[in-house]
Amino acid sequence: MDSLYHRKSIRKYKDTPISNKDLESILEAAVRASNTGNMQLYSIVVTTDAGIKQQLCEQAHFNQSMVAKAPVVLTFCADLHRFTQWCSMRNAEPGFDNFLSFFTATIDAVIAAQTACVAAESLGLGICYLGTTNYNAQNIIDILQLPPLVIPVTTVVVGYPDESPDVTHRLPMEAVVHYQTYTMPNNQTIEQWYTPKEQLEESVRFVAENNVQNLAQVFTQKRYTTQNNKVFSQKLLEVLYKQLCMNNQ
Ligand SMILES: Cc1cc2nc3c(=O)[nH]c(=O)nc-3n(C[C@H](O)[C@H](O)[C@H](O)COP(=O)(O)O)c2cc1C
Repeated sequence: MDSLYHRKSIRKYKDTPISNKDLESILEAAVRASNTGNMQLYSIVVTTDAGIKQQLCEQAHFNQSMVAKAPVVLTFCADLHRFTQWCSMRNAEPGFDNFLSFFTATIDAVIAAQTACVAAESLGLGICYLGTTNYNAQNIIDILQLPPLVIPVTTVVVGYPDESPDVTHRLPMEAVVHYQTYTMPNNQTIEQWYTPKEQLEESVRFVAENNVQNLAQVFTQKRYTTQNNKVFSQKLLEVLYKQLCMNNQ
């Protein structure tokens, strides 16, 4: 519990490699996670090769340097290919080239990813997720040679920490947890929950650096703009249709 309560993302890594034994323990823990129908509709691509990490860094992850620097990069993919192939070989008509199956496989992949993260952190390693996977899925498909029905869902870099950042802020529990039924927040409770976040030194700095009026505008005008959300949604949808061989199902 202590390590879960104090965990934080790590973005700077030492050169120290991760032993095969530790890497295998992390992967075995990930594969032991719950998954839909025990179909294991995901695959994990382990990248340790410096050249491939560099390609991923430049072509898929907007040059986030931790991708090239961390000793291990794990790409968690929704994988409907392996199960479909097995069904086809056994005279069982597969029907997994659709959105529901993708969504299910995505959940499996994310649960495996988070389990790998907890396992890695328990061994003294640091991790950071990379949302850029969803922006540049096609580049990852090309670099990692993913076949049809396999879609990268999230990426995690793993390595020995070369920094010790502070634990980051969270909203109060009552903002996130609802008992029995959903409680609608009113503007007053939103004020109470978000004002402390807005007053953090880091938030004040973000606002100044981005030359906007407040923290919410950092998110809407700089980090996650409507325009980008729309463009990258369209790009991801195109990858999904292609990779799942779907026709507007
Ligand atoms: C799905 C997902 C995508 C993320 N993508 C990135 C990323 O591309 N780059 C990055 O530096 N951090 C990324 N993060 C890390 C978050 O910024 C971080 O978890 C959040 O700010 C909270 O900080 P903490 O993990 O240290 O508590 C991602 C986290 C998640 C869960």
